[in-house]
Amino acid sequence: MRASSHARDRLGDMNHLSIDFNLAVDQHLKSAGLSKADYERLSPQLQQAHEVLTSKRKAGKMAFMDLPKQQTVLQETISVAKKLSGTFENLVILGIGGSSLGPKALFTALCHPFHNFLRPPQQKGMRLFFPDNSDPSTFAGLMGTLGLERTAFAAITKSGGTAETWAQLLWVVDRLGKDAARRQLVALTDPEKGSLRATARAEGWQALEIPPAVGGRFSVFSPVGLLPAAAAGIDIAELLNGAQSMVERCEKGNIFENPAYMLATTLYLFDTYKKRSTHVLMPYADALRETGDWFVQLWAESLGKKKGDGFVGPTPLRAVGATDQHSLLQLLMEGPEDKLTLFIAVDEPREDLKIPEGVFDLSDVSYLGGHGFHELLSAERQATATALAAQGRPSLCIRMPSLRPFAMGELLMLWQIATAYAGFLYEIEPFDQPGVEAGKRYTCCLLGRPGYESAQQDIQTYKATNKAWIF
Ligand code: PA5
Repeated sequence: MRASSHARDRLGDMNHLSIDFNLAVDQHLKSAGLSKADYERLSPQLQQAHEVLTSKRKAGKMAFMDLPKQQTVLQETISVAKKLSGTFENLVILGIGGSSLGPKALFTALCHPFHNFLRPPQQKGMRLFFPDNSDPSTFAGLMGTLGLERTAFAAITKSGGTAETWAQLLWVVDRLGKDAARRQLVALTDPEKGSLRATARAEGWQALEIPPAVGGRFSVFSPVGLLPAAAAGIDIAELLNGAQSMVERCEKGNIFENPAYMLATTLYLFDTYKKRSTHVLMPYADALRETGDWFVQLWAESLGKKKGDGFVGPTPLRAVGATDQHSLLQLLMEGPEDKLTLFIAVDEPREDLKIPEGVFDLSDVSYLGGHGFHELLSAERQATATALAAQGRPSLCIRMPSLRPFAMGELLMLWQIATAYAGFLYEIEPFDQPGVEAGKRYTCCLLGRPGYESAQQDIQTYKATNKAWIF
């Protein structure tokens, strides 16, 4: 088979997401890049990681990969979204971490950049708000701005007991009253477990299910991501089609035929062989800024783990091109050689503008006239990749054909499969987060939750009492 038809087989047609690894390998980067031998040396681990993933999938533990096919959930979610959007103007998402980052990434990527400011008919769905944190200034500011009678609330928590989410939910129910809460609230949580499920049943709240085997940061294709997206007018069937198409592309065991495995293996090799442990996701599209936040959580919380007596995990960072060319880029170019840049390029912008010619006769800016804004952004990405490569600094580029639901489905599924596979390469459990539990214990103790008294001793020990160290 000729190289070009190989490439076509791997990439499908150009309407699909692709990943360009050229500036990560030794052909261009010499010893700073990875060689075919680096990948081949890892062969036994790659095979083992594939076997772990396949057997976990058979055992129903990779449930996030099965979400795109759940037609009943899709229909149920669309029907709840229609009911909400037919009655209310605003939807406030009460959730944090994976219960907020996924829907926020979809909203910002796929809706008009100023969706919340539009009016119908330009605004094709509800206005969405993500207070996320329990910072009172944000929450009070938002609640004081939205008319509560025109607002619905989606309370999202997989565990059903997250403090930040409950603080906001309790405030909302108290303010609405229990009758209005029955009309204005939807609970998204585990089908059986947790306080939110129990309360939703007792209070008669509408509810949607987060499948038991799907954790927060892997839940974007469950109602967690789908309900807000559908309410905002996003075509969630197309989103799931894109995700499903990526699942099918990522079923092969050979990494050179599997984009998620290739992505995960490349990042793993840079971290462990080349000591490039900081992975900077840098989309050249403002619409993907929040996708960067979603990636940071996924990569950090899944892979930052204790392993035997040691610790593993790359450090994810989020940047946005071209904005961060005027900020982080200096560090990427001349700072420590511990970083790998992961560009995202979008081939077809949702809108483009032409830079006018002849407005002024200025020798240092006239060259811009006649080019498109998108052309400028694309040139800046290519220039940054070139500048990094010329310094022996590797990068790769994820190319999205457009910012449409199908392409977002592909992108978010790609990263989730890559994360799970990377977890198996690091030989850690990617689906838990034991490290964040300790902090929750101390919070509960500090706020007087019964059963958490034993954390008091550590709290007293580490209370800052030595004034000599307070400036
Ligand atoms: O990925 C995860 O599991 C976490 O980041 C959770 O999403 C986050 O802690 C919120 O948890 P919950 O959805 O249970 O409220």
